[in-house]
Amino acid sequence: MMTYRVAVLPGDGIGPEVTGMAVKVLEAVQEKTGTYKLELVWGEAGVNAIAKYGTNVPPQTVDVLKTTVACLKGPMTTPEEPGAPPSAALTIRKLFNLYANVRPCLSLPNVSSLKPNIDLTIVRENTEGMYSNIEFDVSEGVAVAMRVITRKASERVARFAFKLADQRRKHLSYVHKANILRRTDGIFNQAILDVSKDFPGVAVEGYHIDNMALQLIKRPESFDVIVTTNLFGDIISDEAAQLVGGLGIASGANMGDNYAMFEPVHGSAPKYAGQDKVNPIATIFAGKMLLEYIGEKDSARKLERATFEVLKEGKTLTYDLGGKAKSSEMCEAILEKIRRS
Ligand code: IPM
Ligand code: MN
Repeated sequence: MMTYRVAVLPGDGIGPEVTGMAVKVLEAVQEKTGTYKLELVWGEAGVNAIAKYGTNVPPQTVDVLKTTVACLKGPMTTPEEPGAPPSAALTIRKLFNLYANVRPCLSLPNVSSLKPNIDLTIVRENTEGMYSNIEFDVSEGVAVAMRVITRKASERVARFAFKLADQRRKHLSYVHKANILRRTDGIFNQAILDVSKDFPGVAVEGYHIDNMALQLIKRPESFDVIVTTNLFGDIISDEAAQLVGGLGIASGANMGDNYAMFEPVHGSAPKYAGQDKVNPIATIFAGKMLLEYIGEKDSARKLERATFEVLKEGKTLTYDLGGKAKSSEMCEAILEKIRRS
């Protein structure tokens, strides 16, 4: 039987709750399918690790990740004070060169959506741009952050996005602000246009970021794959999540050439920690993306179908979807559908 060694980082805040539920769902579909095994290894990371290890991604955890094929990561609080360790997500993305952050945005059954039939995917460059972590004071009251854009990183994320568009509806929109950021976004846009020559079947259109923020509200159903730089992608992926029901259902894949990490798009929401209240679907769908990545497409479909059925029935919904169910009740409803499938 095929065995996949997968790391699980439960994170902090609501992380351990929602990650625990996603793991239950992964175990249920594995049992139902019965042709492979997930060997789960748990690791510590996040804000609680700082007091214990002096950092949020301890070296022990990195060693664990290196023994696995992929990682399911719960939300983690990023401390904001200067001198604090950088965001755990960012550290893992950079360490494993997870250069494409893939965030699907799909209208779901019985979930309020700004327009029907939205089915777009944002591909966010995940290693550089405004997240280059080069920021310094110049003088009192003056500070600078560097937005590093390279041809190499732009080209590889462009290629990733084109391949995805080629498998989907063959339409790629790239998003930039080259009217202002002429050099950096000049490089990004040129990389897109050059890579586009290898994908003659994919239609390409460029948008300024401010205009894309508007178009996503105006005609979200017309977009297929949207590729952009790191911070623009961070912002429009939250916007896109809200188009189809909010952060409670939005998940993302951080893809590299040899490793991938899957996580909900939302944060650790410490104020809801321990309340059994938040929507676990974002993390459950992160698990679905993980199953697709390791090649267990049948299980991914089972998981998706069970979740869709629970949404369609509308009896066991968390507060964000207008229901009164606890997280664990919604998770149990999904588990029940898997068991009966
Ligand atoms: C995300 C998050 C992270 C990001 C934070 C937690 C650093 O907002 O995954 O979108 O900005 O990338
Ligand atoms: Mn974000």
